[in-house]
Amino acid sequence: MAHYSFLHYLVISLFLHNICIADHYTFTVKEVPYKKLCSTKKILTVNGQFPGPVLKVYKGDTIYVNVRNRASENITMHWHGVEQPRNPWSDGPEYITQCPIRPGSDFMYKVIFSIEDATVWWHAHSSWTRATVHGPIFVYPRPPKALPFPKPDHEVSLVLGEWWKKDVREVVELFTRTGGDPNVSDALTINGHPGFLYPCSKSDTFKLVVEKGKTYRIRMVNAAMNLILFFAIAKHSLTVVAADGHYTKPLNAAYITISPGQTLDALLHADQNPKRTYHMAARAYHSNPVINFNNSTTVGILHYNDDAKTSSSSKRYPNLPRYNDTRAAFSFFANIKSLYSGQVPVKLSRKIFTTVSINLLSCPNNSCEGPNGSRLAASMSNISFVTPSHVDILKAYYLHLKGVYGTRFPDFPPLFFNFTAQNQPMFLQTPRLATEVKKIEFGEAVEIVIQGTSLTGGGIDHPMHLHGFSFYVVGVGFGNFNASEDPSSYNLYDPPYRNTATVPINGWITIRFVADNPGVWFMHCHFDRHLTWGMNVVFIVKNGRAPNQQILPPPPDLPPCY
Ligand code: C2O
Ligand code: CU
Repeated sequence: MAHYSFLHYLVISLFLHNICIADHYTFTVKEVPYKKLCSTKKILTVNGQFPGPVLKVYKGDTIYVNVRNRASENITMHWHGVEQPRNPWSDGPEYITQCPIRPGSDFMYKVIFSIEDATVWWHAHSSWTRATVHGPIFVYPRPPKALPFPKPDHEVSLVLGEWWKKDVREVVELFTRTGGDPNVSDALTINGHPGFLYPCSKSDTFKLVVEKGKTYRIRMVNAAMNLILFFAIAKHSLTVVAADGHYTKPLNAAYITISPGQTLDALLHADQNPKRTYHMAARAYHSNPVINFNNSTTVGILHYNDDAKTSSSSKRYPNLPRYNDTRAAFSFFANIKSLYSGQVPVKLSRKIFTTVSINLLSCPNNSCEGPNGSRLAASMSNISFVTPSHVDILKAYYLHLKGVYGTRFPDFPPLFFNFTAQNQPMFLQTPRLATEVKKIEFGEAVEIVIQGTSLTGGGIDHPMHLHGFSFYVVGVGFGNFNASEDPSSYNLYDPPYRNTATVPINGWITIRFVADNPGVWFMHCHFDRHLTWGMNVVFIVKNGRAPNQQILPPPPDLPPCY
């Protein structure tokens, strides 16, 4: 670790095929003013940029990112989709694997890439700071290894986001105090631009200029806080070639569904009439009619670099599925297949069945702003996760500190009921508040069935994310999971290999992975409101016997806890 000090400001760059690869980066987190939707506010950024800078690495690289907190609130950084073998110390979730980097302090993250092949991303992981603190990571095959698809002519980063006119801290403060739903965002954004359908945004529209006949690799991230999105480009189909940093079989798609936390790599073929202008657009997929959501549309422009333009009457808009089209959303997910086959664990050593629910907690005199004066919460297996507030779980585990967490997260929920029935008895709505982890032996082949419930409001989709691993999504279905019949429909051949998979409204998914990464790994819904409410669990994967199956020693500059 001593080389930190003298390599601190030394950036080693290689220029190869116009890719600039560095192994040391500085991320200065600071507040800067941005003007959107007719008003200016200060937002938290990395190096003043929104969205943040792109990191570029070769497969298997290790990079160092010095995060300098020069803002007025706590921060941590997460490398979403990067498995970080044996290195939970640099994973980032606040009070799970580290205490926050305080204002004025620094922490050097060591980010270890291993099996990631395509686009992943980074984002802050403290409260809702990730709303503006996020950016893509482009992974390239290390030469002489090549891409499994024809080399595109250009690459385009396309980060989808959500923008609030209010300070995001106020949004969080308000809904966590009142117990109600958070305010919905005021705009959706493409690379930070709301697009001309929003007020004062005519010049704040993302534009992509293309050349006829060329192919563009779009590296897409859904960095929105609380929305699954549909995305499409008029008259241009996209060929999906990777999802969550893993190659897929090429999939031609007229539209895309992308959940918060997910990434996609898609090829755009610039093969249409270059005299016309085409629009790209994104808007929400939202299945529950009683929950408010941002139903606006963000639009970007696709131009050909052709001088002889015709009038604006020839503009083309894309067809997006209707906002509540669950079938359209999930048929896209179901069409994604791994490029490689035969890698799914089939001999399982542990089966977990967990429910994901929205819940209610009672408030004195029904004084909260959730349904019937109660407070909204969320849970897995009826445990609403309580995040520790003084020391992180990784440190408590590593140093054998008592009283920080329990180890009783169950293999099954406490009660089996008709999870997806339309009217549920009230008593089912109340969760238990606790910090329970699930301990797993090194190398176990784990299967988790995640069952959505209709509790409190009729149900909603949940994009579930696991740190430290990618997993195979072997099954997905609607209604209650049927343990005797549903496994026969599993895809054990070429299921998608992802780090974030969406449980359909009142449905279920089954995921599998081998727990070969020792550490403390967070699993949670990537809707930040559900994360805040406790739809979370922590897996502790124990060390194996061999020295290379054990957690790495902690870095010397870990932020102190107090
Ligand atoms: Cu992208 Cu724990 O998150
Ligand atoms: Cu959720």
